[in-house]
Amino acid sequence: MADYLIAPSILSADFARLGEEVDAVLQAGADVVHFDVMDNHFVPNLTIGPMVCKALRDYGIKAPIDVHLMVQPVDRMIDDFAAAGASIITFHPEASTHIDRSVQQIKAAGCQAGLVFNPATPLHYLDYVMDKLDVILLMSVNPGFGGQSFIPSTLAKLKQVRQRIDASGRDIRLEIDGGVKVDNIAEIAAAGADMFVAGSAIFNQPDYAAVIAAMRNELAK
Ligand code: DX5
Ligand code: ZN
Repeated sequence: MADYLIAPSILSADFARLGEEVDAVLQAGADVVHFDVMDNHFVPNLTIGPMVCKALRDYGIKAPIDVHLMVQPVDRMIDDFAAAGASIITFHPEASTHIDRSVQQIKAAGCQAGLVFNPATPLHYLDYVMDKLDVILLMSVNPGFGGQSFIPSTLAKLKQVRQRIDASGRDIRLEIDGGVKVDNIAEIAAAGADMFVAGSAIFNQPDYAAVIAAMRNELAK
């Protein structure tokens, strides 16, 4: 069986009890904490920054924290998040003036680096940096909000990226973000994803363990 990672997006968690929520979702079987950073500039919403990431580390969260930067400019946030305990930092190529520099800065800060593609963003941004990436994240909704529906054209795009990753021979995670649910996760995995962000599907249910178990059950089919 493939090695799949479930990454709950804390955007749909109860922010008034964030430490407990993150603890609960990890106890429920999640692998990675997906941390959405929005700046009301690159995307039309405003969320959380490095202080909150550090607060989760200080609270005792040990799991990898996957920081999804939806901010412009990107670079000034990289070192702050690395210092705050980020494990993976991903950013959108449209938000960086010098994509290769941003990737190098993430790696130099000791984190894994990833590029994020919006639903209508072409894959050519991969052409000259793929050899430096640890993660490729495809958005299956337009970024900014939780609870949106999965955009079906992402499946074909996932297949293209899966082919490119396999051809590269490199160990690159293929992450999917937006509208991932129990009832579509198998199809998304079949298209090539191996890391699944899910916000509302998990946090809007009372029993996080039941949702994560149902997702793993679908992935094992
Ligand atoms: C959207 C964020 C997502 C979001 C996913 O811009 O990047 O991580 O929280 O939420 P769901 O799983 O509810 O679509
Ligand atoms: Zn995200």
